[in-house]
Amino acid sequence: MHLARRYRFAASHRLHSSALSDAENRALYGKCNNPHGHGHNYEVELLIRGAVNTVTGRLIDLTELDRLAEEQILAPFRYRNLNEEIEAFRTAVPTTENLASEVDRRLRSVWDGFFSGVSPRLERVSIWETERNICQIE
Ligand code: NI
Repeated sequence: MHLARRYRFAASHRLHSSALSDAENRALYGKCNNPHGHGHNYEVELLIRGAVNTVTGRLIDLTELDRLAEEQILAPFRYRNLNEEIEAFRTAVPTTENLASEVDRRLRSVWDGFFSGVSPRLERVSIWETERNICQIE
């Protein structure tokens, strides 16, 4: 069975690759290359796979999942300038793709400390940057 839980946080970023010239960055990213950045209301969906615990009737302890999300994603990213304040984005461009990778990496790095065994497992991370721009990593 699967269970999905969604979280939201607001953050700002600028799309700019240090491997490209200023002109190339402007051509590639357009207004997203604006020097002073811009904000998004990001939405993160975690898809969890597991078996329903026969005692609790639940697939995952949501209090623990919320604590994990708060510690690893929401508290570090909320109201931050991703380029300046998140170590991973000092080098990687904070696109939705790279943000999904970083969220996935952070969650998996501590998952087994929260949830041991074969259930529950993190199946998929999805990030909405806008309603039209969604990135998923499995
Ligand atoms: Ni943007």
